[in-house]
Amino acid sequence: MCGIVCVSGSIDAALILLRGLKQLEYRGYDSAGIAVHEPDGAIRRARAAGKVAALEAAISTPFCGTSGIAHTRWATHGAPTEANAHPHRAGRVCLVHNGIIENFSPLRKELLAEGRSFSSETDTEVVAHLLDRELDLVSDPKVALLNVLSRLEGAFALAAIIEGEPDLVLGARRGAPLVAASGKGAGFLASDIMAITGEATSVIYLEEGDSVLVRPSGIEVYGLDGLPVVRHAVPAPASMAQAEKGNHRHFMQKEIYEQPEVVGRTLAAYLDAASGCIRARDGVDFRAITRLLIVGCGTASYAGQIAEYWFEALSGLPVKVDIASEFRYRNPAFLKGDAALFISQSGETADTLEALRLCKAAGVTTIALVNSPHSAMAREADIVAPTLAGPEIGVASTKAFTCQLAALAALAVLAGHQRGCLDSEAQSGHVANLLAIPSLMGAALKIDQEVDALATELANASIVLYLGRNAFFPLALEGALKLKEISYIHAEGYAAGELKHGPIALIEEDVAVVVIAPHDALFAKTRSSIQEVRARGARVIAITDNAGAAELEGEVSAILKLPDVQGMAAPIVAATAVQLLAYYVAVHKGTDVDQPRNLAKSVTVE
Ligand code: M6R
Repeated sequence: MCGIVCVSGSIDAALILLRGLKQLEYRGYDSAGIAVHEPDGAIRRARAAGKVAALEAAISTPFCGTSGIAHTRWATHGAPTEANAHPHRAGRVCLVHNGIIENFSPLRKELLAEGRSFSSETDTEVVAHLLDRELDLVSDPKVALLNVLSRLEGAFALAAIIEGEPDLVLGARRGAPLVAASGKGAGFLASDIMAITGEATSVIYLEEGDSVLVRPSGIEVYGLDGLPVVRHAVPAPASMAQAEKGNHRHFMQKEIYEQPEVVGRTLAAYLDAASGCIRARDGVDFRAITRLLIVGCGTASYAGQIAEYWFEALSGLPVKVDIASEFRYRNPAFLKGDAALFISQSGETADTLEALRLCKAAGVTTIALVNSPHSAMAREADIVAPTLAGPEIGVASTKAFTCQLAALAALAVLAGHQRGCLDSEAQSGHVANLLAIPSLMGAALKIDQEVDALATELANASIVLYLGRNAFFPLALEGALKLKEISYIHAEGYAAGELKHGPIALIEEDVAVVVIAPHDALFAKTRSSIQEVRARGARVIAITDNAGAAELEGEVSAILKLPDVQGMAAPIVAATAVQLLAYYVAVHKGTDVDQPRNLAKSVTVE
């Protein structure tokens, strides 16, 4: 949450900062701001409520300095106003921050008592004042920064510039991501390398607890103890092609359509098509595991819930799925032989990362199923299981979700084989089933125009309920989450069998019910649920296959027909339908599909 980008030593700092902010908007878009050292030695600042476009509109005279900092905000402390927008200024210091300073209240009181005054409601401004005060006491900016950091509690990343130090950008990473980079004679800091791709040629993925001094001449890194440390630079990614919308209207639409390709790429990392086997993963031995804990947030946790059905059915391995924010605070009891799998697109989600650390501290083997190879989770877990979705820009997760499912399905087969529940023939049967997913997804996407037409009407529903059974129950939860987060329609997912235990009371005429009803062993049960809601006046949309469509014809208001799909491939393919439905409803409602209100892509605060 919140995006930071900083540069030192570029011919046109503001151009790079504003361009970088646009790449970081996925992290928050409540307000944006920039501060640049001007040639006269002063720091000039511009801020605006709203997106980066509003900031650009607010800049009347172009900036002309070579160093500066910039920020796009997801509001935590204080409303999304210009006054609360970063950078915050105190004396000589301008500072940007991502995360939360948990002890900001006593610090603010302390500073107020010393006669300092505040112009925002943010926790960030406290840090700017602390640094300015420290610079009055010690002349060395590095020492001043380290002294300030020792006073702060919470999880954050920050960056600052100081009047009189025109080439210097200070930074620190304490629980939120930050990279340092260099290229074209300049130095950079950013929340995500994507902000400076094309400018940076080499990048240092800073470690937890690092502080950094960036100058055009080089990057100095200090560890938690304040001593210099060597962090190796790696080549920075050269292209941002995947971060462009191409011919699509929204990133979400592009990402939905990328799924056959990226799911195929992810599967290729796990499946050996020639031998019909799942590739063994270094360090993963499901024979040695007696229980698998799966932890994630939002969509990632729903991927985990789907995988629970698969692991238990294919391998007999007991699985417990938890939401990270609950898991980490409920003193979980561990069993001998527990392993914990953390699912995250970003690999930076604060609650999931802390849950991982909690498990590590308890001696539990940790596996990170992540899409960002340089993320904190990827670095800290014992074992990394990658998804290869590429950068996901739309706040609503789509391709990351199906890539997570593809990888989880492969791991479930591996577990089944390693634990002696699946012989080689059964294993290769599952591998063949999974290998068919990309082309089945491509075929499923052909319902696009039907979904578009259906969405016009669904956009008027007051409530939309999603129902499913077995692995389609968590998919119902995911469908409801997708719809509510981008269309703002109240949507809930339920296990179809649970409906009569309460939710059915919601049914009336302007309630729509989306039922995910493949023609599988539970079809007859799901069909009964359809009858129950229909009898009470709901408009029912069935997501089904050919056989299901033939039986449901005339019984539901609309059918979205997917190709016939068996086994674990079925919920992965059906995911495309719930994604398209949410997408088109949001388009018809005219909401901001890629950057829905109040949300951010990377949730690095609690
Ligand atoms: O980066 P992560 O996968 O850890 O993110 C977890 C959730 O914040 C994320 O899936 C969120 O629920 C999405 N907005 C859902 O579309």
